[in-house]
Parts: sequence; structure tokens; C-alpha cells
Amino acid sequence: MAHPASGLPRRFVLLLGLGTLAAGVLAACTPKGTDSMPPSSTPPTGIAPSAGGGNGPTSSGKRVLLAYFSRAGENYHYGSRVDLDVGNTQVLAEMLAGAVSVDVFRIVAADPYPHDYDQTVARNLEEEQDDARPRITGDLPDLGGYDTILLGSPVWNSQPPMIMRTFIDALDWTGKTVQPFVTYAVSRMGAVQRDYTQWCQGATVGDGLAIQGETVNDARDQTEDWLRQIKLV
Ligand SMILES: Cc1cc2nc3c(=O)[nH]c(=O)nc-3n(C[C@H](O)[C@H](O)[C@H](O)COP(=O)(O)O)c2cc1C
Repeated sequence: MAHPASGLPRRFVLLLGLGTLAAGVLAACTPKGTDSMPPSSTPPTGIAPSAGGGNGPTSSGKRVLLAYFSRAGENYHYGSRVDLDVGNTQVLAEMLAGAVSVDVFRIVAADPYPHDYDQTVARNLEEEQDDARPRITGDLPDLGGYDTILLGSPVWNSQPPMIMRTFIDALDWTGKTVQPFVTYAVSRMGAVQRDYTQWCQGATVGDGLAIQGETVNDARDQTEDWLRQIKLV
């Protein structure tokens, strides 16, 4: 059965999570060169102003929080594996934060996810089956001072990692605009927009930005287009 949001069969996505991708589909993912962005060191948790300004309204007058989760370590890469010093979603988050005035909050798991890809897949499946709320390190931000939240994560098993649910459940989303952004291997947005619409009670959730993880270093034009489209620049 096709997964409702991704258009991919659910079983396909599960297989991807387990590291078994059909060669035909992979052939469709043409590798691109990386016009590299310097990897940053692991940023601290807690609110930090962005290189794009931070702590002030955007040119549109909106106060924006960028909150994201990303996992460095062994990951999927065009059917093979790669060791990422900086997670793909972190690269994307930093690109966005460099282009617009935002405060940045990095969601860090209190119990870090394994370096190993297959172990992470297994843990994620368990967390989904248990409807878990993996704990987050440190104090969470107060959304009171923000109009818009850019909410970023990888796509895991065609949906947001459960730690995004922990973050969302702890905060008051009433009246907020949520603009999702994700990195993925094949699922594009998957069910992320649909899930955030259900989880962020009282918020308006935009269509979102989805960037294939393997191409994230080349995503600057897409991020700038998206920021213009959602009227933050
Ligand atoms: C546990 C796990 C599950 C994943 N499931 C999917 C999936 O269902 N669909 C997909 O397109 N990519 C999937 N991926 C690939 C990631 O979404 C992709 O590599 C992403 O760019 C990783 O971002 P990060 O480095 O910020 O964690 C999965 C990766 C992991 C580790």
C-alpha cells in the first residue's frame, strides 16, 4: 500500500530503513558533486543567535526560531554508507541560519543515538512502536517570543524521528506558523508535514523544504528560494 504522504510503499520505506534499497531506484538518484560548506563543530544546546542576524526580527518583521535535530555518524549514502562528521540536517540548518535572522535551538538526545546506522534504524523502529518520547538534553525554548518556527529533522522511516514529538509535545504551538524542513534519502517530506499538522496543535504548518541528504551541500539556492517563498527574506 502506498504511504499516504510519500507516495512510496510503506514496505519500501521500511526496507530503506533496514538498509535494503532497490538498485533501480538508486540508479535514479544521480550523485552530485559537493561544493562544500565548511563543517561546523558540534554546536551547543540552548538558544543561540544565527550568523544571519539572530535575536531580532527578519526583514519581514517576523521573529523566528530555527529548531532542529540531526545525527552525525554512519548514514545512508546512495545505497552505500558514509560517516558524517556533521549531520545533513545540521548542514541545512546552518545554511538557513546564515541566510536569515533566527535564533537557533539544537535538539540533542539525552541518550545519544548510536554511531552505527543499522542500530539507529532498529532503535527508531522500537521508539515508533512504543510511541516513545526520547528525552532531550537541556531546557527547551519558550515559543512565546516567536511568530514562526523553522522545524528541521531527517526523515526516519518516512516520518519525523520520535524526538521531534518530544519537542513538540512540550511546547505551546497556539498561533504559531511552523515551516518544516527535512533531509532525506528517497522519501522527500514523507509524512512530516502531515504529522506536524496533527502534533503542533493550534499552529499553521507550511508545505516545507525537503533536501536529499546526499546533495545538501549544493542546496543553497533551494534554501534561499524557500526563504523567499515563505516570506522570511
Ligand atoms: C534511522 C534512519 C531511518 C531513515 N529512514 C529514512 C526513510 O524512511 N526515508 C528516507 O528518505 N531516508 C531515510 N533515512 C535517511 C536520512 O533521512 C538521511 O540520510 C538524512 O539526510 C539524515 O539526516 P541527518 O544526517 O541530519 O541525521 C533514514 C536514516 C536513518 C538513520
